[in-house]
Amino acid sequence: MRRLEAELKKETIEKPAEEWSVDFSFRGDAKKGKRMVEAKGLAKIFGDRTLFEKSHFYVKGGEKIGFLGPNGSGKSTFIRMLLGAESITKGSVWKSPSLKIGYLPQEMNDLPADKTALEYLNAGGQTAMARTTLANMGIHASQLIHPLSAFSQGEKMKVKLVSMLLDEYDLLILDEPTNHLDLPSREALEETLLAYTGTLLIVSHDRYLVDKVCDKLLVIEDKRLKRFEFSLKEYEQRMHMKETQPGLQEDNEKAVLELKLIERIGLLGALKPGTDEYNWLNEEIDELLKRKKKQ
Ligand SMILES: Nc1ncnc2c1ncn2[C@@H]1O[C@H](COP(=O)(O)OP(=O)(O)O)[C@@H](O)[C@H]1O
Ligand SMILES: [Mg+2]
Repeated sequence: MRRLEAELKKETIEKPAEEWSVDFSFRGDAKKGKRMVEAKGLAKIFGDRTLFEKSHFYVKGGEKIGFLGPNGSGKSTFIRMLLGAESITKGSVWKSPSLKIGYLPQEMNDLPADKTALEYLNAGGQTAMARTTLANMGIHASQLIHPLSAFSQGEKMKVKLVSMLLDEYDLLILDEPTNHLDLPSREALEETLLAYTGTLLIVSHDRYLVDKVCDKLLVIEDKRLKRFEFSLKEYEQRMHMKETQPGLQEDNEKAVLELKLIERIGLLGALKPGTDEYNWLNEEIDELLKRKKKQ
């Protein structure tokens, strides 16, 4: 706490004179609620190492999803699969046609070093909003005339992120966006991401950011990529309950499993045998039955 307070007191960042509000309404929300990505029976195996398998989940337009999992569990690998840069071992990942994905990697080495930040941002239009957002994150407009090579990692991150937020991506993937940021900048980033009306997938160990911005989770646990319909706080509460009241959790799990089975079997009846969807669902039902037996 003392360290955080000291960091906050340092006031290395001038408070921006601009208004906070960054208006993303120019984006529209035509794609809100529509499925953008859908994974079925997805697996990634390197040699004899299974990162994840039998994973079914989806991402819908307008969602803000926190992507969690221990180091080395396969988060970046899945992102590369989504981008088409890594092969799929089993199953499939469907993407809606013409889906435009923006990816902000952990380290920024692909910015044109000899261009000024302003030239870079101008190329994408929307400069006034970029200025406001960057000022909120502690990069003053006067800094924008310097070449990008003179920017620190954290500053480059901000410039690239802001340019991406203003671009018309359908899905924006951020890999550890707060790593190089000080506290005031983190808070500014949180506000900006909250105001953002597009779709976000955020990999982050910054629990505060994930809890504040994301209301859905994608988690790699037990070698599965799972989607959860709640925030990080609730996820942690459930994990805690699992540890302290395993009996109660078991009862809940039994009931949930039962419901899942009924739902999936119902769905199966509506599908044509022999189709991919039928086979995936069938596989999932087998899996659920096996788990039921174990209980
Ligand atoms: N091309 C590859 N061949 C073999 N193993 C790999 C390859 N790429 C990544 N891995 C391994 O897969 C694991 C998951 O990596 P990664 O997706 O970067 O995890 P995360 O992003 O969750 O920290 C790591 O142990 C990594 O060493
Ligand atoms: Mg990673």
